[in-house]
Amino acid sequence: MVKIGIIGGSGVYGVFEAKETVKVHTPYGRPSAPVEIGEIEGVEVAFIPRHGKHHEFPPHEVPYRANIWALKELGVERVIGVTAVGSLREEYKPGDIVITDQFIDFTKKRDYTFYNGPKVAHVSMADPFCPEMRKIFYETAKELGFPVHERGTYVCIEGPRFSTRAESFMFRQYAHIIGMTLIPEINLARELGMCYANIATVTDYDVWAEKPVDAQEVLKVMAENNYKVQELLKKAIPRIPEERKCGCADVLKSMFV
Ligand code: ADE
Repeated sequence: MVKIGIIGGSGVYGVFEAKETVKVHTPYGRPSAPVEIGEIEGVEVAFIPRHGKHHEFPPHEVPYRANIWALKELGVERVIGVTAVGSLREEYKPGDIVITDQFIDFTKKRDYTFYNGPKVAHVSMADPFCPEMRKIFYETAKELGFPVHERGTYVCIEGPRFSTRAESFMFRQYAHIIGMTLIPEINLARELGMCYANIATVTDYDVWAEKPVDAQEVLKVMAENNYKVQELLKKAIPRIPEERKCGCADVLKSMFV
């Protein structure tokens, strides 16, 4: 059974070749694309391109529930979410990697839960990211010499629009990075007792910085970020222990009310 799942963008494609493509039907419809199964340095992984094979799902329309359900059905226990983010702080620079450790949810209308009744559940989110995977990704990125932040609070906005300057100034008081896709991916993974880690790569300073966005520069940074993510996945994934000692699955014990 494949135990590691990756949900990410085009940057992840280069890192493994699909040996098999599985069309999964879930109670929540189809995932963003058929799940691709392949190997990274000898470790079997399942991959879903979050925005679809042809980038047809904007952040607020991604079938998050189907994606997580499909991975669970294939046996995945640990989910790695790869996301591009904007920076809300000077010291989080374009090209940096962030091993996110907290989030603030500013999304508005997504499918946040598998428990819409009659079964009801409240899942603990105090420390939602898998500590075991976070440590491995941070230490490996450091070893590779990549600019990496051990922590970062990710504010997730609804999108697809970017923030106003006033919003950006507000978010910057509380968070380090900003994106559109972490929520509800992590909520759903947790509801099924799966580990979740986020590798965020900074593409731009958000509008608080009042710097004009240079599209060429952003494209260059994204290409470099893709390379870093691929190298990081290749080196870190074989280090993830098969047996989980992180306690992420224990949230299920305290969940039903
Ligand atoms: N993704 C990448 N950059 C972003 C930004 N500035 N705001 C929201 N999502 C992003």
